[in-house]
Amino acid sequence: MASVDLRSDTVTKPTPGMLKAMTEAPVGDDVFRDDPSVNAFEEKVADMFGKEAGLFVPSGVMSNQICLYQLTKPGDEVILDELAHIFNYEAGSAALISGVQLRPLKGNRGMLDANQVEAAIRTTNDWDPHTRVVAVENTTNKGGGAVYPLKVLQEIGDVARRNGLFYHLDGARIWNALAANRYKAKEVGTLFDTISVCFSKGLGAPVGSMMLAEKSVIRDARRTRKMLGGGMRQVGLLAAAADYALEHHFSLLEADFYRAKKLAEVISESGSFRVKSESVESNILLFDTEKPANKVLAELNSAGIWMSAFGPYTIRAVFHHQITDADFSKVCAWFESYEPGPKP
Ligand SMILES: Cc1ncc(COP(=O)(O)O)c(C=O)c1O
Repeated sequence: MASVDLRSDTVTKPTPGMLKAMTEAPVGDDVFRDDPSVNAFEEKVADMFGKEAGLFVPSGVMSNQICLYQLTKPGDEVILDELAHIFNYEAGSAALISGVQLRPLKGNRGMLDANQVEAAIRTTNDWDPHTRVVAVENTTNKGGGAVYPLKVLQEIGDVARRNGLFYHLDGARIWNALAANRYKAKEVGTLFDTISVCFSKGLGAPVGSMMLAEKSVIRDARRTRKMLGGGMRQVGLLAAAADYALEHHFSLLEADFYRAKKLAEVISESGSFRVKSESVESNILLFDTEKPANKVLAELNSAGIWMSAFGPYTIRAVFHHQITDADFSKVCAWFESYEPGPKP
Protein backbone atom coordinates (compact mmCIF):
# COMPACT_ATOMS: atom_id res chain seq x y z
CA MET A 1 0.00 0.00 0.00
CA ALA A 2 1.36 3.44 -0.91
CA SER A 3 2.34 5.79 1.89
CA VAL A 4 -0.21 8.26 3.20
CA ASP A 5 1.35 11.60 2.36
CA LEU A 6 0.23 14.35 4.73
CA ARG A 7 3.42 16.43 4.42
CA SER A 8 1.62 19.10 2.43
CA ASP A 9 -1.37 19.75 0.20
CA THR A 10 1.14 20.42 -2.60
CA VAL A 11 1.89 16.71 -3.10
CA THR A 12 -1.17 15.80 -5.18
CA LYS A 13 -0.79 14.44 -8.72
CA PRO A 14 -2.86 15.51 -11.73
CA THR A 15 -5.96 13.35 -12.16
CA PRO A 16 -6.97 11.76 -15.51
CA GLY A 17 -9.71 14.42 -15.86
CA MET A 18 -7.21 17.19 -15.29
CA LEU A 19 -4.76 15.72 -17.80
CA LYS A 20 -7.55 15.48 -20.37
CA ALA A 21 -8.50 19.13 -19.80
CA MET A 22 -4.85 20.09 -20.28
CA THR A 23 -4.49 18.26 -23.58
CA GLU A 24 -7.71 19.77 -24.90
CA ALA A 25 -6.98 23.38 -23.91
CA PRO A 26 -6.66 25.91 -26.74
CA VAL A 27 -3.26 27.61 -26.37
CA GLY A 28 -1.19 30.45 -27.78
CA ASP A 29 1.85 32.50 -26.80
CA ASP A 30 0.89 34.12 -23.51
CA VAL A 31 3.78 36.61 -23.64
CA PHE A 32 1.93 37.99 -26.72
CA ARG A 33 -1.33 37.60 -24.72
CA ASP A 34 -2.40 35.08 -27.34
CA ASP A 35 -3.36 32.24 -25.02
CA PRO A 36 -7.17 32.02 -24.88
CA SER A 37 -7.15 29.59 -21.94
CA VAL A 38 -5.00 31.91 -19.83
CA ASN A 39 -6.93 35.03 -20.81
CA ALA A 40 -10.28 33.45 -19.95
CA PHE A 41 -8.99 32.03 -16.68
CA GLU A 42 -7.47 35.33 -15.54
CA GLU A 43 -10.75 37.07 -16.23
CA LYS A 44 -12.76 34.38 -14.45
CA VAL A 45 -10.72 34.41 -11.22
CA ALA A 46 -10.45 38.21 -11.14
CA ASP A 47 -14.22 38.44 -11.47
CA MET A 48 -14.73 35.86 -8.74
CA PHE A 49 -12.82 38.07 -6.26
CA GLY A 50 -14.27 41.37 -7.52
CA LYS A 51 -10.94 42.53 -8.97
CA GLU A 52 -10.39 44.13 -12.37
CA ALA A 53 -7.68 41.81 -13.65
CA GLY A 54 -5.51 38.78 -12.97
CA LEU A 55 -2.03 37.60 -13.88
CA PHE A 56 -1.24 33.89 -14.07
CA VAL A 57 2.21 33.15 -12.62
CA PRO A 58 4.22 30.00 -11.90
CA SER A 59 4.18 30.14 -8.10
CA GLY A 60 2.83 31.69 -4.93
CA VAL A 61 6.22 33.16 -4.10
CA MET A 62 6.41 34.92 -7.46
CA SER A 63 2.87 36.20 -7.06
CA ASN A 64 3.48 37.60 -3.56
CA GLN A 65 6.76 39.15 -4.64
CA ILE A 66 5.34 40.80 -7.75
CA CYS A 67 2.59 42.29 -5.58
CA LEU A 68 5.13 43.73 -3.12
CA TYR A 69 7.23 45.06 -5.99
CA GLN A 70 4.23 46.89 -7.46
CA LEU A 71 3.23 48.42 -4.12
CA THR A 72 6.56 49.56 -2.67
CA LYS A 73 9.73 51.57 -3.20
CA PRO A 74 13.13 50.38 -1.89
CA GLY A 75 13.46 51.23 1.80
CA ASP A 76 9.73 50.93 2.50
CA GLU A 77 8.46 48.76 5.31
CA VAL A 78 5.90 45.96 5.09
CA ILE A 79 3.95 44.96 8.20
CA LEU A 80 3.15 41.26 8.51
CA ASP A 81 2.85 38.49 11.06
CA GLU A 82 6.05 36.83 12.27
CA LEU A 83 4.72 33.48 10.99
CA ALA A 84 4.02 34.82 7.48
CA HIS A 85 5.22 32.82 4.49
CA ILE A 86 6.60 36.04 2.99
CA PHE A 87 8.79 36.49 6.06
CA ASN A 88 9.84 32.86 6.64
CA TYR A 89 9.81 30.93 3.41
CA GLU A 90 10.46 33.19 0.43
CA ALA A 91 14.26 33.10 0.59
CA GLY A 92 14.58 36.74 1.60
CA SER A 93 13.26 37.78 -1.80
CA ALA A 94 11.34 40.86 -0.57
CA ALA A 95 14.69 42.38 0.39
CA LEU A 96 16.37 41.25 -2.81
CA ILE A 97 13.64 42.06 -5.35
CA SER A 98 11.88 45.07 -3.82
CA GLY A 99 14.53 46.31 -1.37
CA VAL A 100 11.94 46.52 1.40
CA GLN A 101 12.28 45.68 5.05
CA LEU A 102 9.77 43.41 6.69
CA ARG A 103 8.28 44.27 10.07
CA PRO A 104 7.10 41.01 11.65
CA LEU A 105 4.56 41.34 14.48
CA LYS A 106 3.60 38.66 16.97
CA GLY A 107 0.00 37.80 16.15
CA ASN A 108 -2.31 34.94 17.05
CA ARG A 109 -1.67 31.77 14.99
CA GLY A 110 -0.28 33.89 12.17
CA MET A 111 -3.12 36.44 12.29
CA LEU A 112 -2.78 40.14 13.06
CA ASP A 113 -5.38 42.47 14.54
CA ALA A 114 -6.15 46.07 13.64
CA ASN A 115 -4.80 47.57 16.89
CA GLN A 116 -1.38 46.01 16.59
CA VAL A 117 -1.16 47.02 12.94
CA GLU A 118 -2.07 50.61 13.80
CA ALA A 119 0.47 50.68 16.63
CA ALA A 120 3.22 49.49 14.28
CA ILE A 121 2.76 52.23 11.69
CA ARG A 122 5.80 54.53 11.65
CA THR A 123 5.69 58.27 12.10
CA THR A 124 6.81 60.63 9.36
CA ASN A 125 10.09 61.50 11.10
CA ASP A 126 13.00 61.77 8.69
CA TRP A 127 14.63 58.77 10.31
CA ASP A 128 11.65 56.43 10.13
CA PRO A 129 11.14 54.00 7.24
CA HIS A 130 7.90 54.54 5.33
CA THR A 131 5.30 51.98 6.33
CA ARG A 132 3.79 51.13 2.94
CA VAL A 133 1.99 47.78 3.04
CA VAL A 134 0.12 45.55 5.45
CA ALA A 135 0.28 41.94 4.27
CA VAL A 136 -1.97 39.27 5.78
CA GLU A 137 -1.99 35.54 5.09
CA ASN A 138 -5.30 33.69 4.98
CA THR A 139 -5.50 30.86 5.74
CA THR A 140 -2.26 30.78 7.70
CA ASN A 141 0.29 28.10 6.96
CA LYS A 142 2.76 28.26 9.87
CA GLY A 143 -0.17 29.42 12.03
CA GLY A 144 -1.80 25.99 11.56
CA GLY A 145 -4.54 26.76 9.05
CA ALA A 146 -6.19 29.54 11.07
CA VAL A 147 -8.88 31.49 9.20
CA TYR A 148 -9.25 35.24 9.67
CA PRO A 149 -12.73 36.41 10.67
CA LEU A 150 -14.09 38.77 8.00
CA LYS A 151 -14.52 41.52 10.62
CA VAL A 152 -10.81 41.46 11.48
CA LEU A 153 -9.85 41.65 7.81
CA GLN A 154 -12.20 44.64 7.43
CA GLU A 155 -10.80 46.36 10.52
CA ILE A 156 -7.20 45.96 9.33
CA GLY A 157 -8.32 47.25 5.92
CA ASP A 158 -9.83 50.33 7.60
CA VAL A 159 -6.55 51.01 9.42
CA ALA A 160 -4.63 50.60 6.15
CA ARG A 161 -6.93 52.99 4.28
CA ARG A 162 -6.95 55.63 7.03
CA ASN A 163 -3.15 55.61 7.06
CA GLY A 164 -2.59 55.51 3.31
CA LEU A 165 -1.16 51.97 3.32
CA PHE A 166 -1.65 49.28 0.71
CA TYR A 167 -3.30 46.06 1.79
CA HIS A 168 -2.05 42.71 0.41
CA LEU A 169 -3.52 39.23 0.85
CA ASP A 170 -1.39 36.12 0.59
CA GLY A 171 -4.35 33.92 -0.20
CA ALA A 172 -2.41 30.80 -1.17
CA ARG A 173 -5.07 28.84 0.73
CA ILE A 174 -7.96 31.31 0.62
CA TRP A 175 -9.94 28.49 -1.03
CA ASN A 176 -9.92 26.57 2.26
CA ALA A 177 -11.46 29.55 4.06
CA LEU A 178 -14.10 29.88 1.34
CA ALA A 179 -14.84 26.14 1.48
CA ALA A 180 -15.30 26.35 5.25
CA ASN A 181 -18.08 28.83 4.43
CA ARG A 182 -16.46 31.65 6.31
CA TYR A 183 -17.24 34.22 3.58
CA LYS A 184 -17.65 34.72 -0.16
CA ALA A 185 -14.68 35.44 -2.46
CA LYS A 186 -15.92 38.94 -3.35
CA GLU A 187 -16.39 39.89 0.32
CA VAL A 188 -12.70 39.23 0.89
CA GLY A 189 -11.39 40.28 -2.49
CA THR A 190 -12.75 43.78 -2.48
CA LEU A 191 -10.94 44.60 0.79
CA PHE A 192 -7.48 44.29 -0.75
CA ASP A 193 -5.31 46.20 -3.21
CA THR A 194 -3.47 43.05 -4.28
CA ILE A 195 -4.22 39.37 -3.80
CA SER A 196 -2.21 36.24 -4.48
CA VAL A 197 -4.04 32.91 -4.79
CA CYS A 198 -2.57 29.45 -5.47
CA PHE A 199 -4.07 26.58 -7.44
CA SER A 200 -1.25 24.19 -6.54
CA LYS A 201 -2.13 23.72 -2.84
CA GLY A 202 -5.39 22.04 -1.75
CA LEU A 203 -7.00 22.56 -5.15
CA GLY A 204 -4.45 20.16 -6.59
CA ALA A 205 -3.14 21.77 -9.77
CA PRO A 206 0.45 20.84 -10.60
CA VAL A 207 1.54 24.47 -11.02
CA GLY A 208 0.07 27.94 -10.91
CA SER A 209 -0.84 30.97 -8.88
CA MET A 210 -2.55 34.22 -9.75
CA MET A 211 -2.10 37.81 -8.75
CA LEU A 212 -5.29 39.91 -8.71
CA ALA A 213 -5.52 43.71 -8.67
CA GLU A 214 -6.68 46.77 -10.62
CA LYS A 215 -5.96 46.77 -14.37
CA SER A 216 -3.22 49.42 -14.11
CA VAL A 217 -1.38 47.41 -11.42
CA ILE A 218 -1.61 44.21 -13.46
CA ARG A 219 -0.32 46.00 -16.56
CA ASP A 220 2.90 46.90 -14.70
CA ALA A 221 2.97 43.51 -13.00
CA ARG A 222 3.20 41.78 -16.40
CA ARG A 223 6.48 43.57 -16.93
CA THR A 224 7.72 42.58 -13.45
CA ARG A 225 6.76 38.97 -14.14
CA LYS A 226 8.83 39.11 -17.33
CA MET A 227 11.74 40.66 -15.43
CA LEU A 228 11.63 37.72 -13.00
CA GLY A 229 11.60 35.19 -15.82
CA GLY A 230 7.95 34.29 -15.32
CA GLY A 231 6.68 35.11 -18.82
CA MET A 232 5.40 31.80 -20.17
CA ARG A 233 4.40 30.73 -23.67
CA GLN A 234 1.72 28.05 -24.35
CA VAL A 235 0.83 28.06 -20.68
CA GLY A 236 -2.86 27.52 -21.32
CA LEU A 237 -2.05 23.87 -20.57
CA LEU A 238 -1.40 24.87 -16.97
CA ALA A 239 -4.22 27.38 -16.79
CA ALA A 240 -6.53 24.54 -17.91
CA ALA A 241 -5.22 22.35 -15.08
CA ALA A 242 -5.78 25.16 -12.56
CA ASP A 243 -9.26 25.85 -13.94
CA TYR A 244 -10.09 22.16 -13.75
CA ALA A 245 -8.87 22.11 -10.13
CA LEU A 246 -11.09 25.05 -9.27
CA GLU A 247 -14.14 23.54 -10.96
CA HIS A 248 -13.73 19.97 -9.71
CA HIS A 249 -11.71 20.06 -6.49
CA PHE A 250 -13.02 23.12 -4.64
CA SER A 251 -15.99 21.11 -3.37
CA LEU A 252 -13.58 18.51 -1.95
CA LEU A 253 -11.89 20.97 0.41
CA GLU A 254 -14.65 20.67 2.97
CA ALA A 255 -13.74 17.02 3.50
CA ASP A 256 -10.11 18.02 4.19
CA PHE A 257 -11.35 20.39 6.88
CA TYR A 258 -13.55 17.68 8.40
CA ARG A 259 -10.67 15.19 8.46
CA ALA A 260 -8.23 17.65 10.04
CA LYS A 261 -10.81 18.33 12.76
CA LYS A 262 -11.50 14.64 13.29
CA LEU A 263 -7.82 13.75 13.47
CA ALA A 264 -7.30 16.55 16.02
CA GLU A 265 -9.90 14.84 18.24
CA VAL A 266 -8.24 11.45 17.82
CA ILE A 267 -4.80 12.89 18.57
CA SER A 268 -6.07 14.75 21.66
CA GLU A 269 -7.76 11.61 22.97
CA SER A 270 -4.58 9.56 22.51
CA GLY A 271 -3.07 11.51 25.43
CA SER A 272 0.45 11.34 23.96
CA PHE A 273 0.34 14.53 21.89
CA ARG A 274 -1.04 18.01 22.29
CA VAL A 275 -2.97 19.59 19.44
CA LYS A 276 -1.62 23.12 19.18
CA SER A 277 -4.84 25.02 18.95
CA GLU A 278 -8.25 24.19 20.38
CA SER A 279 -9.86 25.03 17.06
CA VAL A 280 -8.94 23.43 13.72
CA GLU A 281 -10.25 25.80 11.08
CA SER A 282 -9.13 24.35 7.76
CA ASN A 283 -7.00 21.54 6.32
CA ILE A 284 -3.86 22.02 8.43
CA LEU A 285 -3.25 20.46 11.82
CA LEU A 286 -0.29 21.18 14.12
CA PHE A 287 0.45 19.10 17.18
CA ASP A 288 3.20 19.01 19.78
CA THR A 289 5.14 15.91 20.70
CA GLU A 290 6.90 14.90 23.92
CA LYS A 291 9.68 13.08 22.07
CA PRO A 292 11.59 15.08 19.44
CA ALA A 293 9.34 15.48 16.39
CA ASN A 294 11.87 13.68 14.17
CA LYS A 295 11.61 10.54 16.31
CA VAL A 296 7.80 10.53 16.02
CA LEU A 297 8.06 11.20 12.29
CA ALA A 298 10.34 8.17 11.94
CA GLU A 299 7.78 6.03 13.77
CA LEU A 300 5.04 7.37 11.49
CA ASN A 301 7.21 6.75 8.42
CA SER A 302 7.76 3.15 9.34
CA ALA A 303 3.96 2.76 9.43
CA GLY A 304 3.73 4.33 5.96
CA ILE A 305 2.48 7.74 7.13
CA TRP A 306 4.32 10.90 6.16
CA MET A 307 4.00 14.20 8.01
CA SER A 308 6.49 17.03 8.43
CA ALA A 309 8.36 18.66 11.32
CA PHE A 310 7.26 22.19 12.04
CA GLY A 311 9.60 22.77 14.95
CA PRO A 312 11.71 20.53 17.19
CA TYR A 313 8.61 19.28 19.01
CA THR A 314 5.87 20.13 16.52
CA ILE A 315 4.46 18.13 13.61
CA ARG A 316 2.25 19.35 10.77
CA ALA A 317 -0.33 17.24 8.94
CA VAL A 318 -2.05 18.69 5.88
CA PHE A 319 -5.08 17.13 4.22
CA HIS A 320 -5.78 17.06 0.50
CA HIS A 321 -8.14 15.38 -1.91
CA GLN A 322 -5.90 12.41 -2.67
CA ILE A 323 -6.18 11.05 0.87
CA THR A 324 -8.66 8.17 0.67
CA ASP A 325 -11.04 6.94 3.36
CA ALA A 326 -8.72 3.94 3.88
CA ASP A 327 -5.72 6.27 4.27
CA PHE A 328 -7.59 8.34 6.81
CA SER A 329 -8.66 5.28 8.82
CA LYS A 330 -5.05 4.07 8.84
CA VAL A 331 -3.82 7.40 10.25
CA CYS A 332 -6.54 7.51 12.92
CA ALA A 333 -5.82 3.90 13.90
CA TRP A 334 -2.11 4.65 14.29
CA PHE A 335 -2.81 7.42 16.81
CA GLU A 336 -5.53 5.42 18.57
CA SER A 337 -3.10 2.57 19.26
CA TYR A 338 -0.04 4.72 19.92
CA GLU A 339 2.19 3.55 22.77
CA PRO A 340 4.65 6.31 23.63
CA GLY A 341 7.14 3.99 25.38
CA PRO A 342 9.31 5.23 28.26
CA LYS A 343 9.49 9.00 28.78
CA PRO A 344 12.38 10.57 26.88
C1 LIG B 1 0.80 30.86 2.63
C2 LIG B 1 1.68 30.58 1.47
N1 LIG B 1 2.00 31.57 0.63
C3 LIG B 1 2.78 31.36 -0.43
C4 LIG B 1 3.30 30.11 -0.72
C5 LIG B 1 4.21 29.93 -1.89
O1 LIG B 1 3.71 29.13 -2.87
P1 LIG B 1 4.68 28.41 -3.95
O2 LIG B 1 5.25 27.22 -3.27
O3 LIG B 1 3.76 28.09 -5.08
O4 LIG B 1 5.72 29.40 -4.34
C6 LIG B 1 2.98 29.04 0.12
C7 LIG B 1 3.52 27.70 -0.15
O5 LIG B 1 3.25 26.74 0.54
C8 LIG B 1 2.17 29.29 1.26
O6 LIG B 1 1.86 28.31 2.12
